[in-house]
Amino acid sequence: MQAILEELAARREKAHLGGGTKRIEAQHAKGKLTARERIDVLLDPGSFEEYDMYVEHNCVDFGMQDTVIPGDGVVTGSGTVNGRLVFVFSQDFTVFGGSLSERHAQKICKIMDMAMKVGAPVIGLNDSGGARIQEGVASLGGYAEVFQRNVLASGVVPQLSVIMGPCAGGAVYSPAMTDFIFMVKDSSYMFVTGPDVVKTVTNEVVTQEELGGAVTHTAKSGVADVAFDNDIEALLAARDLIDYLPLSNREALPERPTADPWDRIENSLDTLIPANPNMPYDMHELIRKTLDEGEFFEIQPTHAGNIITGFGRIEGRTVGVVANQPMVLAGCLDINSSKKAARFVRFCDCFDIPIITFVDVPGFLPGVAQEHSGIIKHGAKLLFAYAEATVPKITVITRKAYGGAYDVMASKHLRGDLNYAWPTAEIAVMGAKGAVEIIFRGRTPEEIAERTKEYEARFANPFVAASKGFIDEVIMPHSTRRRIALGLRKLRNKALENPWKKHDNIPL
Ligand code: HXC
Repeated sequence: MQAILEELAARREKAHLGGGTKRIEAQHAKGKLTARERIDVLLDPGSFEEYDMYVEHNCVDFGMQDTVIPGDGVVTGSGTVNGRLVFVFSQDFTVFGGSLSERHAQKICKIMDMAMKVGAPVIGLNDSGGARIQEGVASLGGYAEVFQRNVLASGVVPQLSVIMGPCAGGAVYSPAMTDFIFMVKDSSYMFVTGPDVVKTVTNEVVTQEELGGAVTHTAKSGVADVAFDNDIEALLAARDLIDYLPLSNREALPERPTADPWDRIENSLDTLIPANPNMPYDMHELIRKTLDEGEFFEIQPTHAGNIITGFGRIEGRTVGVVANQPMVLAGCLDINSSKKAARFVRFCDCFDIPIITFVDVPGFLPGVAQEHSGIIKHGAKLLFAYAEATVPKITVITRKAYGGAYDVMASKHLRGDLNYAWPTAEIAVMGAKGAVEIIFRGRTPEEIAERTKEYEARFANPFVAASKGFIDEVIMPHSTRRRIALGLRKLRNKALENPWKKHDNIPL
């Protein structure tokens, strides 16, 4: 018996070594943790239960039969994050560069199937050179099996991808279909084809970092959500994010005890809006002063800064926050901000997370570039997302709510449940000057100035909209948290269903 136990221990030890000590050292030298070390940071201590440690590849081409490594380049299993169940796969770059073989894919599919059956999030720690080149189409098939499951799991269980090394080819498309992507600066890359292929095909010379590094994807392309300085920061942030999310679309929101009073008054908010309507202010201040203990997990903080999206809690329960940011492009809606917020709103709706919307928007961003790049269709994504969402929706207009952007930003007309305005709100079809210049075209500058004043007095306030019932109440800024907390209590049992359909056809 002792000998049998010793053999098991020896097999485990061999599997734990992955591609061997030399490659582990190389991984460490790049500032990267190994696949197993990452799991240790991600999960509660001692909670990881591994599956399929002895799975091997089945390739016999290119001499592969002579190099068989137990586990085949990916560590899979389940564990807990602050006591809540999650499933995880962690690709091992020390084994064939973390590349995906048929069997490697089967291991990932097994935990995804299990996660969907029991209703728990899937976290993928990606560090992979893409399809296992020696396996050819078997590997492509493996990818497609993973992709199919990403799609079936979408909206059923949260899916989070952490990119922790070079991810090329197929290795980027699975993350692209998950809900959130985190990246690690200076050691993770995502591209469909790398710099060498780019050079051959288009003659462009570009580094890995410029082409698909963490900064590129979290600022420019918007493919990824948040960039972190190292593996440990990224993994700890993954734990934080999981804490906000329900385990599945069948589970209730997680609750966390809080000492922050639900009716906390924030007098400083009464002076947040500058006297000059063209002066910006930082919308983050309102967000943090509204949420429990000022804690806010921002999604895409460095992309499309004119809109802010992220998670917080009110009375210990998760809310999604969407807010125009007057500090960037005056808070205008443009293509990138519309796409960013639309995806966030749809995520919240999938998982029954109430949406709080703070509005200060002068309109859609005008310009040839925006029109030619399809602002109509992209702006419609946000409109569509808000209109189809059936979760509790509470809206607070702090200042500007002009034109189509007023409609879009969770207005009463898009089934906003509670629509509040601060007394500083200006709700109108357009800004006073622009409106007067159209209605009174050709009049003298003096008359235009006078009419502008008239228009401002008539429309630059919340009371016209309130007189029509489009605003439920004009509230004191200092009472915003109390109003939202009360609203969320009221809406806890909200029941609203869209008409039956196979699925909708959001303007993609
Ligand atoms: C098999 C691979 C591999 C792969 C890397 N390795 N990628 N083995 N299949 N796709 C192996 C290497 O042979 C090497 O083995 C080890 O992993 C480490 O790789 P290095 O090149 O030494 O590391 P590094 O310099 O850090 O470069 C990493 C890399 C590079 C950028 C990922 O290896 C690379 O460009 N790989 C190929 C990427 C690619 O073209 N993948 C296929 C995409 S097509 P040893 O034994 O020396 O340690 C695809 C199709 C799916 O994915 C499409 C679905 C839609």
